[in-house]
Amino acid sequence: MSPMRAISQTRLGGPEVLHEVTLPKPQPGPTEVLVRVHAAGVNPVDAKTRRAAGMLGEPPFVLGWDVSGVVEEVGYGVTLYKPGDEVFGMPLFPREAGGYAEHVVAPARHFARKPGTLDHPHAAALPLVGLTAWQSLVETADVQSGQRVLVHAAAGGVGHVAVQIAKARGAHVIGTASAGKHDFVRRLGADEVVDWADAHVDGGRGGAHPVVRRRGPEPVVQMR
Ligand SMILES: NC(=O)c1ccc[n+]([C@@H]2O[C@H](COP(=O)([O-])OP(=O)(O)OC[C@H]3O[C@@H](n4cnc5c(N)ncnc54)[C@H](OP(=O)(O)O)[C@@H]3O)[C@@H](O)[C@H]2O)c1
Repeated sequence: MSPMRAISQTRLGGPEVLHEVTLPKPQPGPTEVLVRVHAAGVNPVDAKTRRAAGMLGEPPFVLGWDVSGVVEEVGYGVTLYKPGDEVFGMPLFPREAGGYAEHVVAPARHFARKPGTLDHPHAAALPLVGLTAWQSLVETADVQSGQRVLVHAAAGGVGHVAVQIAKARGAHVIGTASAGKHDFVRRLGADEVVDWADAHVDGGRGGAHPVVRRRGPEPVVQMR
């Protein structure tokens, strides 16, 4: 079995626990694909799992779920992809995917074709935040044109995708962000931006009418 390089850890902790190791290159089983990783995304769940025993338990393990790359081999029965196809995804979550490595193996259906308009680093940044925002706003809330959507942490990974999805669905979007990121959030399409450090924002009764209060006793803004 040929070797591959990976970034692993043998103890929990800060970024300093990450180090390069050589591991056997994984082989695709039936219905699986071997993907040559060109870029791996980093999310808060990576840092949380690196720091404290979470869904991967105690190390050693290889972090990383969001990946973008090129199919190198396909296992028996795979019809979705062939070697050379560009794919991205969040395979095997919440089990170990080992995205911080030269190769990952996972079921073919855990990947999607990478659009030609996205390069690998941008595609690798999208799966977890994109799925979270899409599942919340489209599959669960079924946001419709004309509705008002409040996106907390609108400049963050999940939030900046949520703003764009809600806007594309025709919603009136209110985002919270720190002052230096208001222009960014407006450029994404938010109709209103509120500084989370200055104001307390809640969904209002029934979540229908977001209410913004300056920190202090008196409400100064009510959005309807
Ligand atoms: N359960 C799930 O399925 C799921 C999925 C994805 C993410 N998450 C969790 O969701 C959180 C956000 O993920 P992310 O990828 O978007 O993280 P991120 O890119 O690090 O963004 C976090 C954002 O939080 C904002 N923020 C910090 N303190 C705040 C406060 N007191 N009030 C309002 N906003 C504040 C920051 O806003 P400014 O930049 O404006 O300062 C920052 O942009 C993480 O805890 C992550 O683990 C959960």
